[in-house]
Amino acid sequence: MKHLKGAQVVGVGKCLPQKILTNHDLETMVETSDDWISERTGIRQRHVISGSETVSTMAVAAARQAMEMAAIGPMDLDLIIMGSFTADHKLPAGACMVQAELGAKRAGAFDINSACTGFIYSLLTAAQFVKSGTCKYVLVLGSDATSTVLDWTDRNTCVLFGDGASALVLKQTEDTGVGILSQFMCTDGTGMCNLWIPNGGSRWPLTEKNIGDNRHFVSMSGKEVYRFAINALVESSHNVLAQEGLTCKDIALMVPHQANARIIQSAANRLELLDEQVYINIDRYGNTVGASVGLALCDAWHEGRIKENDKLLVVGFGAGLSWGATLIHWSLK
Ligand code: UT7
Repeated sequence: MKHLKGAQVVGVGKCLPQKILTNHDLETMVETSDDWISERTGIRQRHVISGSETVSTMAVAAARQAMEMAAIGPMDLDLIIMGSFTADHKLPAGACMVQAELGAKRAGAFDINSACTGFIYSLLTAAQFVKSGTCKYVLVLGSDATSTVLDWTDRNTCVLFGDGASALVLKQTEDTGVGILSQFMCTDGTGMCNLWIPNGGSRWPLTEKNIGDNRHFVSMSGKEVYRFAINALVESSHNVLAQEGLTCKDIALMVPHQANARIIQSAANRLELLDEQVYINIDRYGNTVGASVGLALCDAWHEGRIKENDKLLVVGFGAGLSWGATLIHWSLK
């Protein structure tokens, strides 16, 4: 597709809650072990919100970091898009609270509920507004507090997730060769029950009668999601590479959604990527859902794993089922 403008990444940021929950802490809560969790998932610890921390407070802190790196103020923002399924309130969208707190008085603001694919879908949506010439600066956020919708007696799910937020600033540029290049999105709603929260929506609202069923917590068929996830990462990667006429050899770093280190390794093997081409930080955070991909980008940048003019393969999957990817030509100049 021909675009009028380029969408350059000019800032990244993150925020993690203060409180850390280690695998050893979880051993005291459910029948599990540090060995099982770290061997099967790569996770060693995760952060969880406490006190006054919320999805929007984390998002605001991450946003401020990204805006500082981009050297812009709140009045520069034309749009705020937040990938989240755990906004502070059912109404309004969490992005509205972020807009108010930042004082971004010129900006529109909305959420995208694509769970773990939320950051990528938000980024791709933001890119459309920038590349079409509609917006000059868009703030992309991913923020989730999955700890608030987990059944802490269910070892199949509670060991996997963590809370956090990430942010990225997209800037309009005349150079269509930098920033967001090819893009891919796909959804298969027939798989929705493999990863969902059945109750608490408009179909089955929460009542005194059904609250004891625990169907207002995350429910997951781990094995089905595992199989889907590897294929989703591989398909999305091939798609965005093919659009640019590139191969995995051209990629400096794959920055994938962090749900399970084994999923990432299997996909990387199928793509024939070397270890140094793959970024993994799940050990520190667990699966932070909407924040995950942005957190990985932010950490990779601060750790010096991303260099000027690198091509990044940013790819993810999640509830929906949904999956997608983008290639980023990283240039801060
Ligand atoms: O962003 C998308 C979010 N979700 C995902 O990406 C999750 C995708 N799926 C996965 O990552 C993996 O399927 C899991 C990590 C969830 C599970 O790993 P697995 O290797 O597929 O384990 P399993 O479900 O086959 O379970 C193996 C055993 C079972 O015991 P038996 O039946 O062999 O006796 C489970 O009951 O491990 C048991 N088990 C646990 N043991 C200790 C399950 N959860 C735990 C646990 N601690 N937390």
